[in-house]
Amino acid sequence: MEGVAHRSYGPRASEPGFRAHTGFERLRVLGEILLRKPGGAVDGDGNPDTSFLARIPADTPSTFKTLDQDGLVLNTAQTWHQLRPGEVRTDCGGCHGHSQRPADFASTAAGRGAVAPVDLANRAVLDVEYYRDIKPILQRSCVTCHSAKSGTPPARLIWDDTALIDGFEGAWHRLANDQQARWGIKPVIASRTWRQTNASRYVRMFQSRRSLLMLKIMGRRLDGWSNEDHPTESTPGDASTLPRGASANDADLDFTGTIMPPPDSGLPALSAEKNAPSRGGSTSVARSPRPTRRSPAGMPTS
Ligand code: HEC
Ligand code: HEC
Repeated sequence: MEGVAHRSYGPRASEPGFRAHTGFERLRVLGEILLRKPGGAVDGDGNPDTSFLARIPADTPSTFKTLDQDGLVLNTAQTWHQLRPGEVRTDCGGCHGHSQRPADFASTAAGRGAVAPVDLANRAVLDVEYYRDIKPILQRSCVTCHSAKSGTPPARLIWDDTALIDGFEGAWHRLANDQQARWGIKPVIASRTWRQTNASRYVRMFQSRRSLLMLKIMGRRLDGWSNEDHPTESTPGDASTLPRGASANDADLDFTGTIMPPPDSGLPALSAEKNAPSRGGSTSVARSPRPTRRSPAGMPTS
């Protein structure tokens, strides 16, 4: 990922710049690199070999995210890396090994030159763009039900609101710019607005595995919790229907109902696209382990 926040000068200097890696940063995707090697290759320590080689643009701040087998973000490196022209870096283990000896780079597939370098410097970025990539899916697979033309859109969710607000369509605002919970079902906490990195009820910034939109598209919880782990109101948006004694601050969004579009809708499932070999022949990748339970106060989920 390359950081593209404005740097307090230049033609875009008036736009909001860096705020936080947790959500508000602007990044563009330089590329995706498959880490698991076919045939279960191991490095010199006997661990799965996840080494890679990449040509990265010089003099450019960049950083990493790790992705799961569905292409959803697992975690984000929150520090910048940069290279001068011609510089080669194989010292990741210097920090990531902490007090242990890092894996010997020469023992890895990348160190032996057994993997081809991925050229991130001379190719198109892989960004996702609302009008090009998201809106056509909403129109094809979602607006038969989630429509302003319906008197009672399911979950008060409308995906065909094309009226412009500040230059962007209402449907985009509902996804990406609704921390104030102007649309859809409101959160049950006292402020009735979305907390932390929730851009809206449906999207948690940089955390697709915790975004209601992705839960409904994948048809299951993706965050390692179960519905029972945190209290949920029985009437969506109504704090008085939380389980007796439960704090609204601990409430989360569950996966309920069906995958979207619903299987009986006659609309084609989105899963065929998900499984398309666009990422270059993934081999079996271990599912992420269940995250350690943290105190709800430390890890609010709504
Ligand atoms: C200067 C020390 C340092 C070096 C060198 C370094 N990292 Fe990191 N890296 C960090 C720190 C610190 C974090 C955790 C950042 C945070 O969560 O705030 C991190 C996090 C990450 C993450 C996110 C996963 C996680 O466990 O949080 C990835 C992926 C990553 N680094 C990749 C790399 C790669 C690839 C290299 C070599 C090109 C590298 N790092 C070199 C310090 C370093
Ligand atoms: C055949 C009608 C239909 C279609 C098509 C449809 N939905 Fe839904 N959607 C529903 C119904 C009914 C619910 C409420 C029950 C449930 O959650 O399963 C719902 C609920 C949702 C929710 C949860 C809303 C909330 O606030 O809890 C999301 C998110 C969602 N749909 C997204 C989508 C997306 C994205 C698409 C297109 C890929 C889509 N839906 C297509 C009928 C539909």
